[in-house]
Amino acid sequence: MFIRRYISNKMTPGPLFKTRILRVNPNSIIFSANSVMDGSLPSISDTETESALLEAAKIIRDSDNTVAFPTETVYGLGGSSLNDDSVRNIYRAKNRPGDNPLITHVSSIDQLNRKIYQDMNLAPNELLKNIPKSYHNLIEKLWPGPLTILLPVPPSQINTLSKLTTAEQPTFAVRIPLDPVARALIALSDTPIAAPSANASTRPSPTLASHVYHDLQGKIPLILDGGACKVGVESTVIDGLCKPPMLLRPGGFTYEEITKLGGEYWADCKVENMKTVEANEKVRTPGMKYKHYAPSAKVVLLIPSLNTDKQMKVGTFKQLVFKEVTENTGSKKIAILTTKYLDGITAENLSARNDNSFIIKTLGHNGEEIQANLFAALRDVDENDNVDLIFVEGIPEEEEGLAIMNRLRKAAANNCIQF
Ligand code: TXA
Ligand code: MG
Repeated sequence: MFIRRYISNKMTPGPLFKTRILRVNPNSIIFSANSVMDGSLPSISDTETESALLEAAKIIRDSDNTVAFPTETVYGLGGSSLNDDSVRNIYRAKNRPGDNPLITHVSSIDQLNRKIYQDMNLAPNELLKNIPKSYHNLIEKLWPGPLTILLPVPPSQINTLSKLTTAEQPTFAVRIPLDPVARALIALSDTPIAAPSANASTRPSPTLASHVYHDLQGKIPLILDGGACKVGVESTVIDGLCKPPMLLRPGGFTYEEITKLGGEYWADCKVENMKTVEANEKVRTPGMKYKHYAPSAKVVLLIPSLNTDKQMKVGTFKQLVFKEVTENTGSKKIAILTTKYLDGITAENLSARNDNSFIIKTLGHNGEEIQANLFAALRDVDENDNVDLIFVEGIPEEEEGLAIMNRLRKAAANNCIQF
């Protein structure tokens, strides 16, 4: 599995690993309803799935290496949260800046208590003792699922978390994923797993095993392929240690769901300012300050104005395309990813030069569909169709639209146009 790095005179870095992809069947893994609290192990009916999971679990538990695995949000690149070298290998494989802390994934509240707080034999009514009350409504309703909470790092006498996981912050981020493959991997290794999205840093997050292979081939030993991620954007990161509480990163659960399900404390939840901050500026969520989700092609985000007249929007868009193809002769192959108003537009509607070609795809017709297709569509037109320019039709920033537009604004850097 491990290939010794060949050091030639020219010091060309060769691949570290021959990356293997093992298929797993999420439907063959069954957790009991109580497992989220008591940590009971799943039953796995498919023997290939079980042996792939055991192999991956051994890598996490017994080595410093990393494994990519599906979660309900995006594929994660996992290593032990308790081991500095594993965490170093995550940062290295992704080429991720070291001051951007990682989310720790646990399979149950029982595992959180045992492995992070060294509380071994808690009575059933004490299981939530390490989690502040402000989170109880939300985790009871939304775990397992795409919700990440911040907790205080345990006191140094008992703390086992790698400082590299937390980037030396006083808090750490934790979630229990819903995807059975992810949860089974964490449960079978009985190790809290640090896992950022399994893309090369700055690239769109991966929602298929092939996306991970594209970015990390040769850099990691193993990818578990459990098919497409259902949610398609990362977890919602919230901070309930402050008042008012904060939504630090919009994600798989909407702001509306958090304020509705969280109880009184969350009713006035604030949303972290989504602007991109300067490199040396102190931010609540360090991940905010880096380039993110960016295809190689230039992305132009079309931000819908309040005007809801389809004909007018199509007209404005045609002018934009005309301006682009006349002013920028490098933009030959152009992708158009549509949502509401541009749905149904065809290349024949657009005036272009003879050497222009268009690839037109819909992202979906509602928030959930658009969210699930977003990263795969960006990667598809960028990596497979090799377009020079991508126009993406945005949606209003409510419900799923908040997370979708957050990712798209970053993918587009500052190329945002009202239409
Ligand atoms: O859905 C997800 O959350 C995926 C899957 C794999 O679980 N993981 C993921 O991890 O998106 P990552 O590392 O790409 O994003 C973690 C986010 C970053 O924005 C980071 O800055 C923030 O969580 N974060 C982590 N620890 C934090 C802390 N102690 N305080 C504030 N923000 C934190
Ligand atoms: Mg990421």
